[in-house]
Amino acid sequence: MTDVVAAQYEKWIYPKPIMDLEAYCRNGSTDAVAPHHMHYLYWPDGEYERRQGKIDILVAGCGANAAARYAYMHPNANVVGIDLSEASLAHERYLQKKHDLQNLTLHRMRLEEVGKLGQQFDFIDSVGVLHHLPDPVEGLTQLKAALRPNGVMGLMLYGLYGRFGVYLMQELFSRLYMEQTEGDVAVVRETLAQLSPAQRDRLMVTSDLNYDAGLVDLFLHPIDRGYTVESCLDYVESCGLVFQGWIESHSYYPEGQVSPDTTLWKLLNLLPDRERWKAMELFNGQINRHAFYVCHPERPTTSYQIHLDDEQFLDYVPHRRVLKINQPDFEQGIPATLERQPLPPYPLDDDKAFIFNEINGKHTIRECIQNARLPGTSEQNLEFAREFFKALWHLGYVVFKIPGASA
Ligand SMILES: C[S@@+](CC[C@H](N)C(=O)[O-])C[C@H]1O[C@@H](n2cnc3c(N)ncnc32)[C@H](O)[C@@H]1O
Repeated sequence: MTDVVAAQYEKWIYPKPIMDLEAYCRNGSTDAVAPHHMHYLYWPDGEYERRQGKIDILVAGCGANAAARYAYMHPNANVVGIDLSEASLAHERYLQKKHDLQNLTLHRMRLEEVGKLGQQFDFIDSVGVLHHLPDPVEGLTQLKAALRPNGVMGLMLYGLYGRFGVYLMQELFSRLYMEQTEGDVAVVRETLAQLSPAQRDRLMVTSDLNYDAGLVDLFLHPIDRGYTVESCLDYVESCGLVFQGWIESHSYYPEGQVSPDTTLWKLLNLLPDRERWKAMELFNGQINRHAFYVCHPERPTTSYQIHLDDEQFLDYVPHRRVLKINQPDFEQGIPATLERQPLPPYPLDDDKAFIFNEINGKHTIRECIQNARLPGTSEQNLEFAREFFKALWHLGYVVFKIPGASA
């Protein structure tokens, strides 16, 4: 089966080649799990900053662009890209030459054989790859062996429920004995044109529909597994790794999706975290990609686990992950809101806005509460702030630095 997958990516280069990384980055585009903007999620103990980004990165199944993009966006890092498609690597080389990326090394190989490199990495990206392997457990286990003790892996697996419409079409085409010829791609196009708006919405994808390799990847892939929250967690644990968190946790928590004055909210919040994620996946129904990060079980949990329920949380230093803060319009009675695409804006009452304004990457949570001069008793203010920071964390509006937690 690996040969069929290899043949596909040799003929149908994926994703669409980027021709200029400078222009790409100017648009604000980046890799979903890249440490340059996610490092506090991965290393809240400040490890990445301390090393000034001088880390070893592996991009496993890099495709046409990702390894060069990593090298470009992480100039202090050493980046290794591996892929089984020579055609994809040829485009990576084009980008390497164009941008003079001396911190990039490329190898044509299966990620199941990564051990042959004899190298260890601080960060491993494998986005959109493991669900295409004949034996995903074998693949992730091999990647784990190449991860340093304090290392982190950023992974993306397809979401079963959110890709339901795609899987219906995949099965349809497979029942029609279609493969991956140009003629088959033409049939896919013709079929898509037959869909009603409701059927088209069910696909819940837009980006891969406008080019042939994207259509092949979506609808004619020989190996494509969809994962639920439960099967992501089981998969990670069956490979001896620890699940650290979701990259975009807002899809997995009620905040921003369920109204707090409903019984559903109360019932959801009675569940432990993992059960709540599973329930929210069903409520949401549209998660077509699960992006998350994992690490070794031996890594000291004090260096990365975020606990907002005990008093330690007062010492955390929150950093904003917000892209846009909308100022309030007092005349219109519109509160300040926080916005992070693709999230809905999150309304801030005055007290929340006062606290949020104090988040500057320097103040601890204790200082944010003190400086915000909230009206309640100190106990009330503490609980108010705890609930607010929980919501910000669940919605992905903040990340935390844990002071003095070096591993
Ligand atoms: C969907 S693309 C994702 C590319 C890239 N990670 C990205 O996010 O842009 C999957 C890539 O994984 C590669 N691939 C599939 N199976 C592989 C394997 N066993 N070892 C190495 N690469 C593999 C394919 O050749 C293809 O380039």
